[in-house]
Amino acid sequence: MLADRNQDVPASEIRKIFNMVLGRTDILDLTVGIPDFDTPDFVKEAAKRAIDEGYTRYTHNAGYLETREAVATKLKRDNGIIANPEGEIMMTAGGMGALVLANMVLINPGDEVLYPDPGFVSHFAHIRLADGIPVPIQLKKENSFGITAEDIEEVLTDKTKLLVLNSPNNPTGGVISNKELRRIAELANDRDFYIISDEAYEQFRYDNTKTEFIGALPGMNERSVSLFSLSKTYAMTGWRIGAVAGSSEIIGAMTTLQEHLLAMPTSVSQKAAEAAVAGPQTCVMEMLATFKKRRNLITKGLNQIEGVELDPPGGAFYAFPDVSAFGMKSYDLVIKLLEETKVVTIHGTAFGEFGEGFLRLCYAVSTERIEEALQKLDAYLPKLLPK
Ligand SMILES: Cc1ncc(COP(=O)(O)O)c(C=O)c1O
Repeated sequence: MLADRNQDVPASEIRKIFNMVLGRTDILDLTVGIPDFDTPDFVKEAAKRAIDEGYTRYTHNAGYLETREAVATKLKRDNGIIANPEGEIMMTAGGMGALVLANMVLINPGDEVLYPDPGFVSHFAHIRLADGIPVPIQLKKENSFGITAEDIEEVLTDKTKLLVLNSPNNPTGGVISNKELRRIAELANDRDFYIISDEAYEQFRYDNTKTEFIGALPGMNERSVSLFSLSKTYAMTGWRIGAVAGSSEIIGAMTTLQEHLLAMPTSVSQKAAEAAVAGPQTCVMEMLATFKKRRNLITKGLNQIEGVELDPPGGAFYAFPDVSAFGMKSYDLVIKLLEETKVVTIHGTAFGEFGEGFLRLCYAVSTERIEEALQKLDAYLPKLLPK
């Protein structure tokens, strides 16, 4: 009875594990990427004010103009992206809202779309929803899970329409270097393909070099769509708010589609987002400093466990250690760890076929939970090593 489309869009494997442990209080959960911080007070206050002042009706399908103006200022300040709030910016229902619409307006049936593997589970689903052909780009441990122009050239064909980038990457924490970003932009111009840049973790990078953003590089205003999410940056996963920037042609088409899909993201969340991006960014700096400490803790702790290997992740808040030494399917290892240690992780294959041999541990949780999980893993994992 259901349309074929549903066959190609499987439920996320992360949710499978998440649902398995739902309601259990005896576990150490390192699964879902939800920051353990609360939304900053000044953002909550702005939302309350918005309700009281009557920002409770339909807005423009691209969002309030003043909210888009605040986003335009943020894009210039943080990302070097110059975008006109009237036509080149749209507010979306989280990064997810932007991803679906961008895929829908750019992909024709049969177009090949390159995406990172291991990667965010919904990228594959969005490509299939738009009847595109997903072509994985393998992120390799030896390249710190970054992507190079050569990786792309290897899988590029005349049918390639689109490339999805996500740096810092979920689930590996991999970051694409400035040099490679520039080479990838040149390749897109030369070989005529488009780029969706998923910037969900833009603020969470652990080295101090100044980052370039693909949307700010030459020729990229026409060829790329950059999506930003308030979810991780301001601990606002439940508010469902994000923003997307690109050429007026692409953003115009996305705005028309958004009109028919959900009209616009929630008015109150838009006002909260406006306050968040325009307000003091100390909350972001504090979160970054905390995540960095936890990243160092988990990297050190995992490497001390016999059989586990992890290079320090460059960004996001995930560790993606190599556990291939245990000679088990990563899913089986997750189940074993859950049963024997109550530490809950996600198998690498939940993020694509090239995730085999790895686990994802989300460290957006308290230091105490990380320490306890590390102790339990250290006491148990070496017993599983083949003799
Ligand atoms: C890489 C990446 N992109 C997009 C999203 C979607 O986030 P949201 O829709 O909450 O902005 C996530 C969420 O985990 C993610 O990890």
